[in-house]
Amino acid sequence: MKVTVVGAGAVGASCAEYIAIKDFASEVVLLDIKEGFAEGKAMDLMQTASLNGFDTKITGVTNDYSKTANSDICVITSGIPRKPGMTREELIGINAGIVKSVSSSLIEHSPNTILIVVSNPMDTMTYLAHKSTNLPKNRIIGMGGALDSARFKYRLAEALEAPISDVDGMVIGGHSDVGMVPLTRLATRNSVPVSEFISEDRLNQVKEDTKVGGATLTKLLGTSAWYAPGAAVSALVQAIACDQKKMFPCSALLDGEYGLSDLCIGVPVILGRNGIEGIVDLDLNDAEKEHLNTSAEGVKKTNGLLDV
Ligand code: LAC
Repeated sequence: MKVTVVGAGAVGASCAEYIAIKDFASEVVLLDIKEGFAEGKAMDLMQTASLNGFDTKITGVTNDYSKTANSDICVITSGIPRKPGMTREELIGINAGIVKSVSSSLIEHSPNTILIVVSNPMDTMTYLAHKSTNLPKNRIIGMGGALDSARFKYRLAEALEAPISDVDGMVIGGHSDVGMVPLTRLATRNSVPVSEFISEDRLNQVKEDTKVGGATLTKLLGTSAWYAPGAAVSALVQAIACDQKKMFPCSALLDGEYGLSDLCIGVPVILGRNGIEGIVDLDLNDAEKEHLNTSAEGVKKTNGLLDV
């Protein structure tokens, strides 16, 4: 199993690290445009192998896509991250050109690959990857909901004063501060609805904290986060590589599901060896449907800025 990660910045390097530590891939190629940068990160990571106990070979390359040939899965993290006060949408001008050229270079060398898009604004970049490559829709996946759901579970555990392993919950919708739809109604503590334990007000606070999860970190760190984004990508890569058939909310190209089409937005999908092997149609209530529709309008508005 060969995995390529484009972009050796904080998210790309974390992603390569988590993939390697889980030891399910034979090789991870880390590619960056900055001379020597991916080589350095790869060497540093390889020097953790004997300490962390993995055999995955990490290779760093400077913009040489021939080294990515025949990758089973390719992850695109390249582009600029947001700075404090910026929205993900403001990155579109620079990142669209990058995502378009990176996708086409990757596919040229790995025509059968599955693409995972992480660059922001993620739902629009995933849509752009679909439009510019024409790959079958199961083979392009946007990473957002897995990260947002991890942040939701963190906030739920905090509010419930419970261990994170006790809570479950999912965030669908767009990967943006206003677009996220944390499904509080369906969140549980060990299968008991969380509303049994905390007030509606506290639950609304959890929802709001989740939606600005990325912005909160950007403010603290001065740039966008990397540990949880890297871990979320590695979980998707593992689900595909190991044909786990796990359910994650991911940005998928919709064709009538949830009454939406011609956009990529976060919905629960089943991930296995063929990428998106199914879209799970949840029975949303009216308020959730309305929130998802508003989120979709926002994503479509951003998509409208693309030159496709
Ligand atoms: C975040 C970026 C990766 O939410 O979108 O941290």
